[in-house]
Amino acid sequence: MTENFEATSMRDLLCGSVDLTVTGERVSVCGWVAKRREHGEHLAFLDLRDHSGVVQAVVDGSVDVRSEYVLRITGTVSLRPEGTVNERLSTGEVELTDCEVEVLSAAEPPPFQIDERSDVDEQVRLKFRYIDVRRDKMQRNLRLRAKVNATLRRAMERQGFCEVETPLLWAPTPEGAREFVVPSRLHPGEFYVLPQSPQIAKQLLMVGGFDRYFQIARCLRDEDLRADRQFEFTQLDVEASFVTQDDIFAFVSEAVLDAAEAATGERPGPISTMTWADALDRYGTDKPDLRFAMDLHDLSSVFSTTQVKAFTAPTVKGLRVPGGAEFTRSRLDALTDQAKGLGAKGLAWFRVTNDGLDSPLARFLSAEEAAAIRGLDDANVGDLILVVADEYVAACKVLGALRLSIGAPPVSEGPHHYVWITEFPLFEGVDENGDLVSAHHPFTMPHLDDLDLIDSDPLQVRSQSYDLVLNGWELGSGSVRIHRADIQSRIFSALGISDEEAQSRFGFLLGAFKYGAPPHAGFAVGIDRLVAIFAGEDNIREVIAFPKTQSGTDLMSGAPKDITARQIRDLRLTFAPKV
Ligand code: AMO
Repeated sequence: MTENFEATSMRDLLCGSVDLTVTGERVSVCGWVAKRREHGEHLAFLDLRDHSGVVQAVVDGSVDVRSEYVLRITGTVSLRPEGTVNERLSTGEVELTDCEVEVLSAAEPPPFQIDERSDVDEQVRLKFRYIDVRRDKMQRNLRLRAKVNATLRRAMERQGFCEVETPLLWAPTPEGAREFVVPSRLHPGEFYVLPQSPQIAKQLLMVGGFDRYFQIARCLRDEDLRADRQFEFTQLDVEASFVTQDDIFAFVSEAVLDAAEAATGERPGPISTMTWADALDRYGTDKPDLRFAMDLHDLSSVFSTTQVKAFTAPTVKGLRVPGGAEFTRSRLDALTDQAKGLGAKGLAWFRVTNDGLDSPLARFLSAEEAAAIRGLDDANVGDLILVVADEYVAACKVLGALRLSIGAPPVSEGPHHYVWITEFPLFEGVDENGDLVSAHHPFTMPHLDDLDLIDSDPLQVRSQSYDLVLNGWELGSGSVRIHRADIQSRIFSALGISDEEAQSRFGFLLGAFKYGAPPHAGFAVGIDRLVAIFAGEDNIREVIAFPKTQSGTDLMSGAPKDITARQIRDLRLTFAPKV
């Protein structure tokens, strides 16, 4: 028998390992009946499946087993008769003969066929997730996830990082999403908050002298669910002391590139960087998908004195769609609707034809304007030029969204294009009270060159925060943190956070900082998203064992559900009537 780590007291091999190398041996395998076919009056073929594959067993036709019964089969590995070899299977040249069949568990007919994925309703898959994960695809995805986790962990350990577990029952953390709260039995009327991330805990560990911390950390956020968002998700969470942004890039790149290599078999090249301002200007987003070109181009100077009303705006931006002159009118209308849905006043389009520009607006353009549009991004006959005129950021974002909806390949299509986006603005805008709103969290260090702008022109202040982007997905984000009390209090006051509020929300962190805070910085990679892209899945549910539905329910367990009267009493909860 070949040496293997598959053997247990009940089996010798995994089903998928029964191949020519063990011909003639008598082996035991365990698994689920994938298929039963009768062969004449007295024999039946059983395909026995485990996560490694299927093996065919020739058994007595009288055995009473059906699909998904759990069996132990002991048989002799024999060559299949000529003409019956199945080349698609690793076990396709052999079969088990002279079999003893032991039924370990009977099974009801499954709610859906395990080997046919296409037409199974997602709700049914989630309700019977334990059956769904028997499928090849889910086995592959969850095992890929385990491999990615193991690789990330190894890479962090190799770089001297120490894994520390931080509490799940905690106080509010500052990520800005709505939080899940847990009522306290021992302190009625008081609540724990489930952490949106280990942000504060890891900063406290820096004060505590753990100069390289990481954790594969569960995070919880009560936010609207989307393809790339679940209530519960997992981060590779990292923080280090006495470092700069570049050190963090090096640590995280090493781990992510290792994971990419483990997942795809190829190590991507070094990850390039792009400033937030460049990303917005060229791709209209802070998470550019660099798998395809289609950069945005500025036409503002050409249109600065335009007579065309639609183009009188601070910014005029254009996008060349290669071959887009073929788009039908209804597709152009749909793009226009999309642009308007994003807040644009309209969308101008120009087909580049042999006879010049074809567009309802063409005849209003000056010769210089027409030439600029015709020459945009070296346009060729057959291309389409889309133009949006608006405030700068709005024009960029609208065209960026159109660029994606026209050009973005499916998630499953390579290549994998990683990019660090740097120098995010420190503040993302102003709230209804006129207070600035943090773009990241309030401990993000401003760019030191911009400190003087905090009072004079705060929206221009760049921060030392950064994201890692892969194919248009935000994989992770982080920042250099403020460790100096004077800068922190300037930021709190700019954010309209009073001393009392700062004390009540983050008092224990600020308190800790008084006892020797090292300069520190960190990052968190969203592991669900990373694995989804590696697996070519466009929804992170496909790489999570037991995810929630779009509406936040777990169809399998029925959560969320009522609790018992006793629990309600113990927790001293009272409820407003359900509406
Ligand atoms: P941030 O909030 O940007 O930063 O989160 C980091 C990464 O976590 C992933 N992520 C999610 N994945 C699935 N479902 C969600 N609901 C969800 N929310 C976030 C994303 C995201 O990029 N403490 C900071 C990090 C730091 O500054 O060190 C933080 O949590 O991939």
